[in-house]
Amino acid sequence: MKTAFKSFASDNNAPVHKAVLQAMLQVNEGDTVGYGDDVHTLEAEQKLKDLFGKDAKVFFMLTGTGANAASLAHITRPFHSIICSDKAHLEKDECGAPEKMTGCKLHTIPSADGKIYTEQIKPFLHSRGFQHHSQPRVISITQATELGTVYHPEEIKQIAHFANENDMYLHMDGARLANAAAALNMPMNELAGSSGVDVLSYGATKNGAMSAEAVIFFNSDLAKDFEYSRKQSMQLMSKMRYVSAQFQALHTGELWLENARRANDMARLLAEKVKGIPSVSITQKVETNAVFAILPAKAIEILQRRYFFYIWDNARNEVRWMTAYHTNEKDIEAFVEAVREAVQ
Ligand SMILES: Cc1ncc(COP(=O)(O)O)c(C=O)c1O
Repeated sequence: MKTAFKSFASDNNAPVHKAVLQAMLQVNEGDTVGYGDDVHTLEAEQKLKDLFGKDAKVFFMLTGTGANAASLAHITRPFHSIICSDKAHLEKDECGAPEKMTGCKLHTIPSADGKIYTEQIKPFLHSRGFQHHSQPRVISITQATELGTVYHPEEIKQIAHFANENDMYLHMDGARLANAAAALNMPMNELAGSSGVDVLSYGATKNGAMSAEAVIFFNSDLAKDFEYSRKQSMQLMSKMRYVSAQFQALHTGELWLENARRANDMARLLAEKVKGIPSVSITQKVETNAVFAILPAKAIEILQRRYFFYIWDNARNEVRWMTAYHTNEKDIEAFVEAVREAVQ
């Protein structure tokens, strides 16, 4: 197994940002009360409230899957259903954790760009009130989507309005909310609470943290008793100060935004540079830090000898290349050169 290599596979493969590690070292002095009853956690929660609104209810978590599954389990009952895109991480990459934790049925909507729209959600309401069918309760959207695209506030508001009118909740998987906010040049909350999201899984891990996620409730009634759900879902960290320190670092001086912008900029640069290469075609809008491309199977094989990245769709020879906060211009230059050589 390679120990150090260049990856365009995922922002999960990036190292932890130095400022985050330093912040963890800084809190590494003496004793502190565990489980979040400490000053660092209070401060970090305050920083998120400054961004997401003073009434936001913030709970720190350890993994994105945990944040999604625990928050969804908290707001549903097992006879409910959750509607999401067929590309949703919930559906594809969480090993059934949302189904296991909630007991709910996931209804998926085919999505070409990672987004879902109210017109596609409407048909699921036909099962309302029919005792043989699971009852639609939550709409879950991902921001930025698994295909690197973004929902604009009007699109989120429309879904939130629809959810509200139909006695449903809107959940957002915001594992890359920072990238979406950077792409749209908007405060994160414009894309979350202010647009009608009820509960958000906010991820910092992909943006330079080590393991720092949060569940944020904008609908405070829903937050009631979540501390017990978090504990039961094994997401309550005893040495919480080290999770809180990561949020403190990213939310001091807008490091979160700087990191997300850089990752997005590098994806855009990569897309611009590969566009001109014959037999490479970009398949999705490059709005955040992912580039999806089709290239000949042989070229993929050659390229994968030197770089780590995933084939997204084998049948189409479609790959996903992801950048992260630490990707630089030289990395892009070298990778583009390798693509050029591989397709020859
Ligand atoms: C969109 C999205 N949501 C959630 C997650 C889950 O994060 P974790 O791997 O920390 O469980 C990921 C991880 O890649 C993701 O891409």
